[in-house]
Amino acid sequence: MTTTARAHTNIALVKYWGKRDAALMLPQTDSLSLTLDEFYTTTTVNFNQALNEDQFYLDGELVSANKAQKVVKFMDLVRQLSGRTEYAQITSVNNVPMAAGLASSASAFAALAGAAAKDAGLDLSLKDLSRLARRGSGSATRSVYGGLVEWHRGVDDATSFAEPVQEVPDFDIAMLAILVDTSQKKVSSRGGMQLVVETSPYYPAWREVVKRDMVAIKEAIANRDLPTIGHIAQENALRMHALNLAADPGFTYFDGQTILAMQTIDRLREEGLNCYYTMDAGPNVKVIFDPKDQDDLLNALTPLFGAERLVVAKPGPGIEFLTEPV
Ligand code: PMV
Repeated sequence: MTTTARAHTNIALVKYWGKRDAALMLPQTDSLSLTLDEFYTTTTVNFNQALNEDQFYLDGELVSANKAQKVVKFMDLVRQLSGRTEYAQITSVNNVPMAAGLASSASAFAALAGAAAKDAGLDLSLKDLSRLARRGSGSATRSVYGGLVEWHRGVDDATSFAEPVQEVPDFDIAMLAILVDTSQKKVSSRGGMQLVVETSPYYPAWREVVKRDMVAIKEAIANRDLPTIGHIAQENALRMHALNLAADPGFTYFDGQTILAMQTIDRLREEGLNCYYTMDAGPNVKVIFDPKDQDDLLNALTPLFGAERLVVAKPGPGIEFLTEPV
């Protein structure tokens, strides 16, 4: 049997930035994200008695055992949960506009969780699928669902899962990615978040910030209040990145182009456009905006960054199971 699943990536509006249990991937805080339509991973899994190790193909190429370690570890977990003993062939195709620009572990591990669990014969609810995806990558927990999604930090493995806030947002919201640098990130999210939890003096304040932001953003979502959603998301991102600057050793994911993009979005908002920025564990900037401002936004950003570096996305769907292998 083979099973194919597709999951879309998500961008957090209230960030997950720190684990409290690295083995179980339990987060320090809740978080909330928007799943996007443009960026997704499609993965086919096939357990096969003839194999003597897992074989992982990414975008048409066999990945070396060394680089496939996270995937193999995840497959070990699926074998342990399902009682299956065979190795598997795993084939993944990333649909992202430029190599590594927004390649996300979120869509990758959500699609892998879906395809592997189903192919192994596990009949998981979406909630349990979300818990399983969490073990591959924290942000993958949220990619099981479409639209606006909340990940509950929970108190243990059973209670740390994602839930939709609005699977199809009932107001207009879009996201524009400014791909300022598509090379591999220098500090992994895993390494970055561990360092801030251990050394950033602002970490206790961050936990309080997220508690307040989660309440406020859910209220703003219920009110269809895009300016407040955008404002909360932008401040939350800045505070996450302030943790990094204050770590020991301090570090940042920003480069010069990141700062240029941030200042430009602030200026365009002062000039009347409904736009706000957020950044993750890399220099690219994601702009939350009202789709009616799309032309004005693209006209202003194209001369600075180039049309090929600007990608617009809308809210995307949750995990899907496909009939054809990739
Ligand atoms: O779970 P990871 O390794 O993809 O970490 C995600 C961290 C951020 O993207 C910065 C924030 C988030 O909540 O997605």
